[in-house]
Order: sequence, then C-alpha cells, then structure tokens
Amino acid sequence: MSEQIPQLSGHDDATLDQAFAALQKQVRAGAAALSTDEARENFRLAWLGRKQGRLKLISDAWLKTAPVEAKKALGQRFNQLKTAIEAALESGHQASTSAGPGLDITLPGIRRAAGVEHPLTRTMREVVAVFEALGYSVGIGPEVETDFYNFEALNFPPNHPARDTQDTLVIADQEKKPGRERLLMRTHTSPVQIRSMIAQEPPLRLVIPGKVHRNDESDATHSPIFHQVEGLCVDTNITFSDLKGTLDHAMKSLFGSAVKTRFFPSFFPFTEPSADVQISCIFCGGKGCRKCKHSGWIELLGCGMVDPAVFAAVDQRRIELGREPAYGSNISGFAFGMGVERIAMMLYGISDIGLFYSGDLRFLEQFA
Ligand code: DAH
Repeated sequence: MSEQIPQLSGHDDATLDQAFAALQKQVRAGAAALSTDEARENFRLAWLGRKQGRLKLISDAWLKTAPVEAKKALGQRFNQLKTAIEAALESGHQASTSAGPGLDITLPGIRRAAGVEHPLTRTMREVVAVFEALGYSVGIGPEVETDFYNFEALNFPPNHPARDTQDTLVIADQEKKPGRERLLMRTHTSPVQIRSMIAQEPPLRLVIPGKVHRNDESDATHSPIFHQVEGLCVDTNITFSDLKGTLDHAMKSLFGSAVKTRFFPSFFPFTEPSADVQISCIFCGGKGCRKCKHSGWIELLGCGMVDPAVFAAVDQRRIELGREPAYGSNISGFAFGMGVERIAMMLYGISDIGLFYSGDLRFLEQFA
C-alpha cells in the first residue's frame, strides 16, 4: 500500500473526529477481505508495519506538526485506530478457521455432475417395471444362501449332475453342518421363489431382481458375478399359454412391439416342461446377421411350469415350520429367469460385459 498521507486541516475535535472516521472506514473496508493468512499479513504490514505501515507514517506526519495541546487527543485516537486494526485481524483469523475461506459469490460455482443410473440398474428396473405393470410385486432375498434354497428345494438333489452347471463359491468351515444348511453364494435368483412360497400362500405374482454368482471364467460375455430377473406366477389354473403370453408381452415391451418370440424345449430341474425363449433378432429384424449368427433369432431366457417336486419341497418345509401346506395339486404356476447383463448388452449395443464393472467414466457417462 503506497499512498499519500492524508493532511490534517486543523486540530479541533471535530476535524480530528472526521479524519479518524475516514481512517476507521478504510480499516473496515480492508477487514472485509481477511480470509487468508496472506491477506491478513498484507493488511497487517500495510497498517502496522514498523517502518512503512500507515499508522506509523500518519502518526509521524500528524504528531510532528501538531500543537502540544492536541497531541493527547491525537494519541488517544491513534490508539483506538490501532485497536480497530488488531480487532479486524483477529476476527478475520477466527472467521477463516471456523468457516473456511470467506465466501466469494462472484467466483464460478463448483459444478456437480448429476448422477445417473448405472446401465445395469436401469435395465433391471425397466424389466421389473414391465412386470409391475402386470400386477407383479417385487421380491428380494439374500445373496449368501443355503444349499437348501439354492439347490435342494429347487429339485437339484445332492450330487446331482445338474449342480455342475451352477458351480459357485462356498463359505468356508461348514463341514459340521448338515449339507442343506451349508452356505454358498447364490447361483441364481430362483431361491427367492422358494422363500416366497414358504412365506406366502397362493396366489403369487413375483418379480425378483438380484445379483448372482458363478464359478465361471470371465470373458466378453461372462462374469462370475452378474444379475438376473426372475419371475414367478402361482395360482389355480395357470397354464403354459399364460407363460407364453406373459413373456411375449414382456419381450415386446422391452424390445419393441415388432419383436416375435419362440419357445424351445429345454431342461431346468425346477420346471417341467422347461423352455428356452428366443426373440427375433432386434438387429436385423429376423433376416439374419452376425449378431444372431445368421439364424434371425437370439436366445434370451429360460422358463417353464413349476415342477411339482418344487411345490412338494415348499409344502414339506411349511409343515416343518408349523404352517399349513398350501401348494397342493390344485395349484400350478410358471417361472422364468433372465440375465440382466445380456439384455443391457443387446439394448445398448455393448460387446464386452467387463465394461459394466470397470467403473470407467468414459463408458458410464454415455448413459447420462
Ligand atoms: N435359474 C435359471 C438359471 O439361472 C434361470 C431360470 C430358468 C429361472 C427357468 C427360472 C426358470 O425361474 O423357470 O439358469
């Protein structure tokens, strides 16, 4: 701060008051911007610097020329001014330690990118919504399951070769437990069907989204952790044509009304009969292209009529728990299961499943 030393036009109280009021005003103006250590040090030097500080220069200039009888009044006012400068430094320090740097509303704001749903979450929600619109409610269950819910009640007997298709991670140190109580990472969302039927009596319409685990090698289309959406509809008089109509509607809702579906015989231990569902290729409309391996069809999900052995396992467990059996021979149902990654890859034209889990913003930002 190098500036002119103001002049005193007289030494009467009114003139002194006016002159010091002007200085106090300057102190207050400077005090408004003392949020950083650097600003406070500059302010301190400018006012209180021992050689070039304003207080020193002004008091030298004013006291030198003042008549003796005015020196006391001047000295008092210089002391008040000094107190005000020190108070400004102190309150600037307190404000910066308690509230951080002062708020400068003229600075550009910190832009926060709005978050968006991960493409898998979004796809899962879209699939669930299709079934919610049909009156299904959402069911969820644990990712760490017992052998009973993941396999046995779903009609995979111990040591049955069907278990080999769904190898998984098992929790360590459980040899002392009976086989059906041993814990493992669930390989599909189907155990939630069992949990739901044990808990509720028919009729049941459930859509079950969730994360599942398999001891599978990762490649462009496989991941040891992935997601499924399962469905279960149980009532009196549920038939295979209900299953066909429901899934045909769901595929049209997801992929567009031009999509056709077809059902091929397949096998799952928990459904009989079982089917694989194919949809007409959404890339070529069914003419045949590289994506559908020139067949015009893409396989998308598994389904079938709930196997009576599953209902029997449910009722047996209900009895063990002191509940009435509720899934007798008048009850039938269908179930289906699909992979969320596979659907998302088709919907968004993604060829590497690993992109979903990489956390790479260049990939994720494309869904904003
Ligand atoms: N749980 C099967 C799997 O992970 C998928 C599945 C197929 C679920 C048919 C079903 C079904 O409910 O009926 O491979």
